[in-house]
Amino acid sequence: MNDLPPGGARAVARCDALGVAPYSDMAGGLYRGYLTPAYTAAQQALAGWMEAAGMAVRRDPAANLVGRYPGEVADAPALLIGSHIDSVRDAGRYDGPLGVMLGIECVDALRTRGRRMAFPIEVYAFGDEEGSRFPAAMLTSRAVAGTLDPAALDLADGEGVALADAGVDVAAYLDAARAPGSAMAYLEAHIEQGPVLEADGLAVGTVTGIAAQLRYEVTVRGMAGHAGTTAMRLRRDALAGAAAMVLAIEQVARCDNSDLVATVGRIEALPGAANVIPGEVRFTIDVRSGDAARRDRAARAILDRLREIAEARDLELATELIHDLPASPCDPALMDLMDDALADAGQPVRRLVSGAGHDAMVMAALCPTAMLFIRCKGGVSHNPAEHVDPADAEVALRVMLGFIERLGAAA
Ligand code: GLV
Ligand code: MN
Ligand code: MN
Repeated sequence: MNDLPPGGARAVARCDALGVAPYSDMAGGLYRGYLTPAYTAAQQALAGWMEAAGMAVRRDPAANLVGRYPGEVADAPALLIGSHIDSVRDAGRYDGPLGVMLGIECVDALRTRGRRMAFPIEVYAFGDEEGSRFPAAMLTSRAVAGTLDPAALDLADGEGVALADAGVDVAAYLDAARAPGSAMAYLEAHIEQGPVLEADGLAVGTVTGIAAQLRYEVTVRGMAGHAGTTAMRLRRDALAGAAAMVLAIEQVARCDNSDLVATVGRIEALPGAANVIPGEVRFTIDVRSGDAARRDRAARAILDRLREIAEARDLELATELIHDLPASPCDPALMDLMDDALADAGQPVRRLVSGAGHDAMVMAALCPTAMLFIRCKGGVSHNPAEHVDPADAEVALRVMLGFIERLGAAA
C-alpha cells in the first residue's frame, strides 16, 4: 500500500478548499445550502475532481452530482459510495464532504493502479442531508432510494423560495430513483461527530447502525401586545410559553437516562421587537434513540407536556411531524468485511453506533449499507472547530480500498 498517493490528505485539503467563498453562502464561515450558488460552485469543483479521477459525471434529477467509474461487467450492479455536500449554518468543513472526497480518492487510487473492479463504482455527492435550507432532510438520497413521497416536494425555504423555483425540475425529481437491483451496496465514510474513537485512541471504526430520528415543527400562538402597558397577569406570551416547553423537552430526555436525545435547535419569536410581547413562536424538536419504541415514547411524552403548558398559559399549539426516519442497522455481512478491511490496514477492530443521521439510513431501503467512521478532534461537529487529522483520512482511504477489494472477492 506504500505506492498509494496521499489521497487522504488531499481529500481533507479539498474539504478545506470548499470551506470558503464561492463554495460557502456565508461570509466569514461555512454554510452551503441545497441548490444555492455555493452548492452549484461546489458541484463544479467536484465534477472536475471526479473527471480527473476517471469518472463520467452527471447531475441527476434531484441535483445530486454522480461520478461513475465503469466496471469490467458493464451492467453489473454498482457499488455506490456517497455522502452529502450541503452543510449546517456556520458548519465545519468535513461533515459530509469528506465522505465524497474519499469516494473520489478510492476511484483515483484504482485508476492509478490500472485496477477495474467487476462492478462499476458510482460516487454520489448528495444535496440535502442536513435539512438546513428547506424544512425537510435527506430529500436527495430519498429520491435516489425511491422512498420519496412526491407530496414532500411541496416546500419553501425560510425566504419563501419554493423548491420548484430553486433550480430543480420538481416534476422530474423522482426520476433520480435507481432501479431496484442496480446497486450492490452503499458505502459511506463520515467523521464520527462524537468522542468515542478519540477516547479509544482509534483512527476509524465500523458503524453498526444509525439511531432513529423524529423531527417536529412547532407553532405556539399567544397574543402580541405592548410590552409597557400589558400587565403580566393579562399576557399570553408565546415566547415565555415556548421557553417552558423547551425546558420540558430537555427534562423528558434527561430523565430517560439512556441514549435518548432531544433538541430544540431553531427558535423564532414574532414579531421580534424589544417592545412587543411575542405573539407567535416557531421552533423545531429533534428526538433520537437507537430504539425506535423509546424514541416514540419520548415524543409522545414531549407532545403531552407541550399541550399541558399551552393549556395552562392559554396558548394555541400546532405541531407538525416533518421527519421520521427509522433506526437503520448496517448490513452484518458488510460490517464483517469492514472489520476485515480494518484488520488488513493494521487497525484495531472497533464497532460503534451513530447518533447522527446519514444518507446511509435512507439508502438502506435500496441496498445493503456499510459505514466507516473517522475520528474527529474532541468529537466536535456542526461547529466551525470541526477538525480531522489528514493521517486519519489516509487510514480511512486504505480501509475503504480494502473493503472494495474484499467486496469484489466476495461477489
Ligand atoms: C445530521 O447531521 C444529523 O444527524 O442531523
Ligand atoms: Mn451534519
Ligand atoms: Mn453528515
